[in-house]
Amino acid sequence: MRERHAPTMLSGTSRAVAPLHPFVDLHLHALPGVDNGPASWSAAIELCVQAAHNGITHAVLTPHFRGKPYAERVARLSTRLIRLREALVDRGLAMEVALAGECRFDTFLHQAIQSGDLPWLGRWDEDYVVLIEFSDARLPAKIGPAIEWMRARRIRPMLAHPERIREVQANIEVLAPLIAAGLLLQVDADALAGGCGPFAQETARVLLQRGWVQVLASNAHDLVRQPPRIEPGRIAAAELLGEAESWQLVSQRPARIAAMHFPGLGQA
Ligand SMILES: [Fe+2]
Repeated sequence: MRERHAPTMLSGTSRAVAPLHPFVDLHLHALPGVDNGPASWSAAIELCVQAAHNGITHAVLTPHFRGKPYAERVARLSTRLIRLREALVDRGLAMEVALAGECRFDTFLHQAIQSGDLPWLGRWDEDYVVLIEFSDARLPAKIGPAIEWMRARRIRPMLAHPERIREVQANIEVLAPLIAAGLLLQVDADALAGGCGPFAQETARVLLQRGWVQVLASNAHDLVRQPPRIEPGRIAAAELLGEAESWQLVSQRPARIAAMHFPGLGQA
């Protein structure tokens, strides 16, 4: 289990955030009992309550897909999504949720692309976006040709939390050819704010300064260890890139990506 560090700014259970623009979270583990997110329905609902409290108005839920075929899991998760939506309405919570996935780069991802069973994160221009993850150790072999193979099928992979990958921390240049091939990057807001330690924070900062990062997201799993907060990372991004780009990272750009899930979102 990776070490967690005290955040430099707001805590996950702090007072309500009233952001200038609504946060659109493209990486959130809020479905209960399906991965290392909340274990129960009550915990899942409380996670969503805290996310809304922290200014998140729309969230694409991203349970892990790894080591198993996709189709059956998508069907099972879709049923849970409907139940969670009903529970949020019952609580009077004004946060909308949709379903995608955090997809391990493995043979089952390859199969899902071929069979059309991928849970899409959203759209990027005319292409579809899928959130992918690697191990925290290194980039997969042959990832370059795999990105080209996906791009030929109008798929844009978005890599979750590249700042965690030790090979990237050691030499950020390993990502350069993948960025040139069309890889998109999602950095964890908490990592940028210092909540995942100095190596991940410095890597996140350099990735942003390079202009390689499209989205900051919470990657929340619970209320304590990985809570649903975006504002500390947004503030850190503003210090590096300015206020306007910080809001692009957490609101306008993720809204455009997720608009296929939330009619009307991202058209402003
Ligand atoms: Fe995640």
